[in-house]
Amino acid sequence: MLSFQLNEVVSLGKNYKLYINKKLGNGAFGDVYKGENISSGKKIAVKCEQVRKDHSSLLKSEINILDYLQGGKGIPKKYDFIQTPKYNFMIFELLGPNIEDLYHLCNNKFSKNTILSLGLQMLNLIEFMHSRHIIHRDIKPENFLIGTGKKNSIVYICDFGLAKRFRDKRTGMHISYKEGKKFTGTACFASINTHLGSEQSRRDDLESLAYILIYLCKGTLPWKGLKAKNKDEKFAKILSKKINTNNENLCAGLPKEFSIFLQNVRDLQFEEKPDYSYLRELLKQINTDGIPLNQVKYEFINIFEKRIINNSENKPFLLENKESKKDIQNINISKKGTKSNTNNDSQNKGSLKGNDKIK
Ligand SMILES: Nc1ncnc2c1ncn2[C@@H]1O[C@H](COP(=O)(O)OP(=O)(O)O)[C@@H](O)[C@H]1O
Ligand SMILES: [Mg+2]
Repeated sequence: MLSFQLNEVVSLGKNYKLYINKKLGNGAFGDVYKGENISSGKKIAVKCEQVRKDHSSLLKSEINILDYLQGGKGIPKKYDFIQTPKYNFMIFELLGPNIEDLYHLCNNKFSKNTILSLGLQMLNLIEFMHSRHIIHRDIKPENFLIGTGKKNSIVYICDFGLAKRFRDKRTGMHISYKEGKKFTGTACFASINTHLGSEQSRRDDLESLAYILIYLCKGTLPWKGLKAKNKDEKFAKILSKKINTNNENLCAGLPKEFSIFLQNVRDLQFEEKPDYSYLRELLKQINTDGIPLNQVKYEFINIFEKRIINNSENKPFLLENKESKKDIQNINISKKGTKSNTNNDSQNKGSLKGNDKIK
């Protein structure tokens, strides 16, 4: 059924094909490729995962979450799930580049209104997930993508491999507070409580969003790019810097609403429902030039579309052919998820995701 050779195209059953030379992203537990629905010709995205010896599958749990969120604005459509003896494949909606890539494309500079408008969309997506009793647990710029074509101003949320229900399906009870949890997420954007081993809840997704907003405004975060001998040391340094940078310093030079936003979400109790409307209001207050945030024209759209017109379809978001070919020989060969990522900041996630059984 699955021809896994170094061809340009891999058949996935009768219905889909996957383009090996069109890799969209390196994941910590799976890679994402561009593909096609054979009968309709519609382009699709395919996330691949190597089957583990114990048959545990992060992709399966990602699909369960995605199924549960279907229909929400900014939630990628799930089309199919294909299992083979060696690999699992999730077939889902093809989206555009992620916010981190777009940010680099714009030389780490977005206009104030772009940041606020993206922030609003990200906040709405997080609220939507929470309304379905799910926390994401890996909120970061790489996990937000824009749509394609007419949907290129809509922000989508992806990567539900670490997401978790925070309410019991039957009783509706909130999960209970625990300490001593293994780290889950990406160190750069993780909340302080997550570093300290607390069970995550809604507040942690929002603290990560606050870090994203500050990062997009400033171009960096004080704990980004710290040098360390190994991952444990780096992790410890990031935590120490996060704890020792007070809100005022972190948000220095930014409108006061950013530090109010951060303080508000850091003050939330474990089970407390965040005040999403208040957080939305804070973002709207920063916007002083009268253009409603839902009408902001994103500066990156022109740059991105020019690249498509120049016949470099999706580049630089598609990885080099050579690398893709090498990878397909051993798609995610590293069982512990130690395969390095395209982005340095997510390396912690790579190594920790595999160790932590997560769900
Ligand atoms: N549906 C999609 N369409 C286009 N690109 C995607 C899609 N899903 C993921 N990607 C790209 O692949 C990257 C890795 O995917 P992700 O689901 O985040 O995997 P991981 O859990 O391994 O981080 C994303 O950051 C994004 O750039
Ligand atoms: Mg990801």
